[in-house]
Amino acid sequence: MKDSKALKKDFPIFATKSVKKDGKELIYLDSASTTQKPESVITAITDYYKTSNANIHRGIYTLSEKATIQYEDVRKKTATFINAGTPEEIIFTRNTTEAINLLAYTFGEKHIKQDDEIIVSELEHHSNLVPWQEVVKRKKAKLKVIPIKSDYTPDMDEYHKILSPKTKLVAITSMSNVFGTKTPLKEIIEAAHKKNALVLVDGAQSAAHQKTDVQALNCDFFTMSSHKMLGPTGVGILYGKKELLADLPPFMFGGDMIKSVSQYDSEYADPPVKFEAGTPNIGGIMGFGAALDYINKIGFKTIEENDKKLFEYAVKKLSEIEGINLLIPPADKAGPVISFTLKDIHPHDIAAVLDQDNICIRAGHHCAQPLMEKLGIPATARISFHIYNTPEDIDKTCDSLKKAIKIFE
Ligand SMILES: Cc1ncc(COP(=O)(O)O)c(C=O)c1O
Repeated sequence: MKDSKALKKDFPIFATKSVKKDGKELIYLDSASTTQKPESVITAITDYYKTSNANIHRGIYTLSEKATIQYEDVRKKTATFINAGTPEEIIFTRNTTEAINLLAYTFGEKHIKQDDEIIVSELEHHSNLVPWQEVVKRKKAKLKVIPIKSDYTPDMDEYHKILSPKTKLVAITSMSNVFGTKTPLKEIIEAAHKKNALVLVDGAQSAAHQKTDVQALNCDFFTMSSHKMLGPTGVGILYGKKELLADLPPFMFGGDMIKSVSQYDSEYADPPVKFEAGTPNIGGIMGFGAALDYINKIGFKTIEENDKKLFEYAVKKLSEIEGINLLIPPADKAGPVISFTLKDIHPHDIAAVLDQDNICIRAGHHCAQPLMEKLGIPATARISFHIYNTPEDIDKTCDSLKKAIKIFE
């Protein structure tokens, strides 16, 4: 199997002259935000437009039928990727945010009533918090929050305390985008089901780093974003158990999502088409299919080994820097994400200094403002990696961080 140095060659951006800065190679450590794309993904998108471009589901002609077959093949591939029961359990959206909004709107409308409770955790990205805030406001229901402990993991004792017969839904991340914390999904889901509550897993961060098996997890809904999985932007996934999706009202109305329309009323199609009104991002979905092929080819074993090796190496090297504070969970619960603060240098300044060395890291509140408030800090700097990152990337980042200390001292 190729190592990350060899795999990096699959990603054309790293060999693109214009991304070099003063002769310095691009070091990309912001994969939690969005990943780079391998050549095969870029080719799949251009191939689609060159050889198969037509609208899907409507044409009687060969080109449209070809596009429809390819589009539905990606749905099947996605179902296999997360081990869904059937392809009909896969809904294409624009991103995780839209997938969660779809669920919040439809599930919220149908199933949340006054005084019902929805549980989220303090680890949630705004995308898995704000839509639920809106639902509880609209329905006069309550939002309950699982706090985190000082080791950046969810406080499971508190979870079991706040779970109650009033809980209708638990919406929880599988991996924090701030600390990389992997959450104990099995325990969360089993406990929720005992109280007859459903569980949405926000898989945006974990989907491209660890195998997802929605049937083994027994989660009710699962979301992910293509662009965080080596695929293009503009494609997201909502997985839902068949009988649960069938029970939800549509989210958007218009073309494609209907069975029949008369002047004053309409009958809606079955899932997943019921939730895919209008022309979808067909080209992007072809690219997503190629991204799944690429991940399958490398295999999660290689991805997880590289993540673990780099995490351990980065923790060791970063810890040697004077005045650094790493915000990471215990190693057995850690993903490929490391948030840190460095002396009293603002994370934006750290990112700006690193940018001079052509190193891309994220600095800010990471769409987790309540979490920053709890920590009593405005922001963190964050490195996050994927299969194209190497120990040399970490070495160069540490050198650049030492430079930042000198500049700001
Ligand atoms: C945990 C988590 N959930 C949801 C999202 C939102 O993803 P998207 O911007 O693709 O909708 C992100 C993005 O960073 C995330 O990290």
